[in-house]
Parts: sequence; structure tokens; C-alpha cells
Amino acid sequence: MSKVVITHAISEKAIQLLKNQGYKVQVGGSLKGADAVLSLLKDRIGAKEMKSAGSQLQVVSNYAVGVDNIDLDAAQKAGIVVTNTPDVLTTAVANHTMALIFALTRRIVEADKFVRKGKFKGWEPDLMIGTEMQGKTLGIVGHGRIGCEVASKAQQALGMKVLYYDTLRDKKREKKCGISFSSLTGLLKRVDLLSLHVPLLPDTHHLISLKELKMMKQTSYIVNTSRGPVIDEKALVSSLKRGAIAGAALDVFEKEPKLTSGLSKLDNVVLTPHIASATREARQEMAIVAAKNIINVLSKKRIINRVV
Ligand code: GLV
Ligand code: GLV
Repeated sequence: MSKVVITHAISEKAIQLLKNQGYKVQVGGSLKGADAVLSLLKDRIGAKEMKSAGSQLQVVSNYAVGVDNIDLDAAQKAGIVVTNTPDVLTTAVANHTMALIFALTRRIVEADKFVRKGKFKGWEPDLMIGTEMQGKTLGIVGHGRIGCEVASKAQQALGMKVLYYDTLRDKKREKKCGISFSSLTGLLKRVDLLSLHVPLLPDTHHLISLKELKMMKQTSYIVNTSRGPVIDEKALVSSLKRGAIAGAALDVFEKEPKLTSGLSKLDNVVLTPHIASATREARQEMAIVAAKNIINVLSKKRIINRVV
């Protein structure tokens, strides 16, 4: 009987799918003896963890689209399949990105605090003035499924113009999405709002650091729903403090769940606790896809969401 270790409790429906296959399902505890591990993005699955499971381990199924928590080289060397859960969370993450864009540019969180504190003493022409995004330029860094969806929503909902930068230029997609390619430097100089949608890789670590922040307009904003370490958070805090950029909305943090000192003191930031994919619908589908990925590997069917 195959053994599946799920590192933390997830949707019961997904657990049932695995049990229906006749697998022994263990939630939490040691990975020892696992044929399959269903991991969360906060679980570090390195060579050591894979070894601790044993040589029978066939698959690590990550309950996330990002797989930076897994040592892919070690998995490949050991012949372990790694899978993820793309597509089912694209809408949720794109919508959370839009929510952050609205919250940031219309100062929703700051305004809510203001009202709760009893500071609202009557309408004023210059109270909580935000910035209009209509006709402004959005810069998408990372033009995968999520980046593409955000580009399309920002065009439709906000009337923004969209530039994108990616290591791979896809002219077909550009045409389909009505967006233009730019070098990263060109994009940083021109955008009114920068939104990050790259996976965390050695090449994207601190992709936005002090040098890049200095290229941006003083009136521009940054939104990050990808991975924290893509931004040098210390450089971001100092830039926000100096007023080098107008504001930032972050769903992910460099040393998650820790925040860089000074970040939570700033008024021109909106912070959410890595919840971009956190809708009932997306999380349920992610659990089911993660379970199906395991079933496909263990039953030698076609593996759909294979990363390595
Ligand atoms: C969330 O951050 C994910 O990678 O799914
Ligand atoms: C990856 O982040 C994607 O765009 O699905």
C-alpha cells in the first residue's frame, strides 16, 4: 500500500481522493516511508528531507504554483517527480493583485484606519487624495499566466496601458493581450505601477533592489504577489521612507513571516499575509490538483503539472 504524507491538513475532499485510491494517508509528522509527499510552500523540501523519506519516494506534490521551497536539482538527481498547482489559482492571484492596486492607489487601508480612529470630521476637498490609474502605465514583470491575467484585468477594469518584461519575449501573446515588450530598465523608468509575477529563481532574487528603485518615478507604486525575495525589502523600506517611490502593496515578504524593520510603520504600504490564492474556490481546487498529481505519478498515468 502506498503511503502519502500531507505535511499539514488541507481540504478533506483531496484527502478523500487519496484514500479512495487505497493509499495510507498521514497528515503531519515524519516523512519516513512516504511514496508521495504533499507539501505547502512554507515547507522546505531539500535533499535532506527527501532522503529522510526513503528511496521509495516518487513524488513531491507542492500545494502552490511556486516551487522555490523545493530543491529541484536534488529531486531530479534522485529521480523524484515534482509537481505544482498552476491555472487553478490564476484568477485568485490576479484578483488579489487588482485588490492591492485599488487599495494602494485609493488609500483604502489608510482611510479605513482613519475612520475607525474617529478622525473623520467632515468632507474635505483634499482628504485622502489618491491617484487615478486610468491611462497610466502598468509594468508587468513576468509574463506567465498570472502576469497575463493581471495585464488583461488592468486594461479592462482600469484602462491602464501595459508594458511587460520577461526573459522570454512572446510576440504571439503580446498581440493577443494587446501589450508591449520593454527592457527592464525601460519599463522601470516609464511605469506608474510595477507588478511582479516572476517565480523566485537565482536570477530573480533581488531583481528589484536599490538601483532599480532609483530608476522608478517618485509617483510610482510597486505591487508584489510573487515571492518576497524578488524585492530587496530593506532597499524598498528606505526608498518608501525617502519618498523615492509613492507606495507599495506586498502579499509576500523577503523573510516571511518576518517583516523588515520599519515596514509596518509606513502609511504608504498595504500588507497582506501571503493570501493571494486564498479563496475557498482556489484552495479547494489546489488541494484536488495536488492530490491528482500524486495519483497520476503513483499510478503511472500521464503527469500533468510536472515541474521536474
Ligand atoms: C502561492 O504563493 C503559490 O505559489 O501558489
Ligand atoms: C506562475 O507564476 C504563473 O504565472 O502561473
